[in-house]
Amino acid sequence: MFTSLPLDALSQPAVFAERRARFLAQLGSAAAVVPAAPLAVHHADCEWPFRQNSDFWYLTGFDEPDAVALLLPQRPAGEQFVLFVPAKEPSAEVWQGFRWGTEGAVERFGADLAHPIEELPQRLADYLKDAEGIAFRVGKHPKVEPLVLQAWAAQLDRAPRSGKAALGLVAPCPLLHELRLRKTPEELLRLREAARISAEAHELARQVARPGLLERQVQAVIEQHFLEQGARGPAYGSIVAGGDNACVLHYTANTAVLREGDLLLIDAGCSLSDYYNGDITRTFPIGGSFSGEQRALYDLVLAAQAAAVAAVRPGFTAEGVHDTALRVLVTGLVELGLLAGEVDALIEQGAYRHLYMHRTGHWLGLDVHDVGAYRLGEHHVELEPGMVLTVEPGLYVSDRLAVPEGQPAIAERWKGIGIRIEDDVAVSEHGHEVLTASALKAAAAMER
Ligand code: GLY
Ligand code: MN
Ligand code: MN
Repeated sequence: MFTSLPLDALSQPAVFAERRARFLAQLGSAAAVVPAAPLAVHHADCEWPFRQNSDFWYLTGFDEPDAVALLLPQRPAGEQFVLFVPAKEPSAEVWQGFRWGTEGAVERFGADLAHPIEELPQRLADYLKDAEGIAFRVGKHPKVEPLVLQAWAAQLDRAPRSGKAALGLVAPCPLLHELRLRKTPEELLRLREAARISAEAHELARQVARPGLLERQVQAVIEQHFLEQGARGPAYGSIVAGGDNACVLHYTANTAVLREGDLLLIDAGCSLSDYYNGDITRTFPIGGSFSGEQRALYDLVLAAQAAAVAAVRPGFTAEGVHDTALRVLVTGLVELGLLAGEVDALIEQGAYRHLYMHRTGHWLGLDVHDVGAYRLGEHHVELEPGMVLTVEPGLYVSDRLAVPEGQPAIAERWKGIGIRIEDDVAVSEHGHEVLTASALKAAAAMER
């Protein structure tokens, strides 16, 4: 039993201090303004559970809404990390819970200086005044953005006499997201933990799924396991999709009854207390065994996934991983008569997109669709040890998208089959590690 959510090694102040030091070193003399997430309204005066902005979390480990971090490389040591936070206020804490306040921001979170968030409007311009640039992500933080622009405008107004103004507003993301893209060994431990809990939930789900249950009753088993294991909950809306619902890529209603003879696609992963995520998809027959068509497509997706996972290694690219899976899928679809033509031409024309319409994976970390570039200009980013990506090919046979001209009409017996197999894969020194390997996926293991 936990007495509170576990505070792991990664939540220690030194981890965040080290990240800030690396970010500060890269900022040059531009000052960064990084806002926390606000609380989001669910309806009326009820809010969603709080979810911190991952950039802010990565740099601070501070888990309250409506805060702002300043990283000020142009200031002397001991004044470079400033936090604006909600002030301690007993009447607010009675309703919303504990706040660290400005003292906690300094003592627990290592801020050099801390102020109540209400003071941001009058203090921001002063903190930014000697910066040679302002690193701020425009378009994402509607409350903070006008303050940043006002501070910058004031500098520009004064520049003829002060001789000083930030030369430009720059995006902090390339620097910060390059850091986040490469996971440290400690971050990999947390991703392994998220993968473990997520994989266990998939194994439990397969044991309980049977005809007659509602999709959301299986969802309940999965999410109960996440919570029991100390995770915050699901990393994204759990997809528990029986039969044709699996062909809706973002199906989260989970309201249908599971039917004998259908497949069940489950795409679910947990988010840990420090926001590291799992993201796993498994597909299996509900209460029995695969039909011939289901098995043919399952084997094909599994072969595509195996080839794509095997390709993950330093020096390869996420684009290459996608191409690897795609080639196996298209080749198999031609053999099954679901596509007609030369594999190269079908890929070139995109003639497979009514059956496979998404990419084969994404970076994974503090965000499920994690930050970091996939390409820089014409150059596809090469995989390096410490990068983590999902590998998730699928096939979705339904009438939703028109069959491209020249391609075979789809026989009814194939329709309503949606399959995806998704694992979380870390690039290692000489290859890769499948973090989610404990979630079974061999066809025989999927059948009862
Ligand atoms: N669960 C979201 C995704 O697989 O990308
Ligand atoms: Mn995914
Ligand atoms: Mn997924």
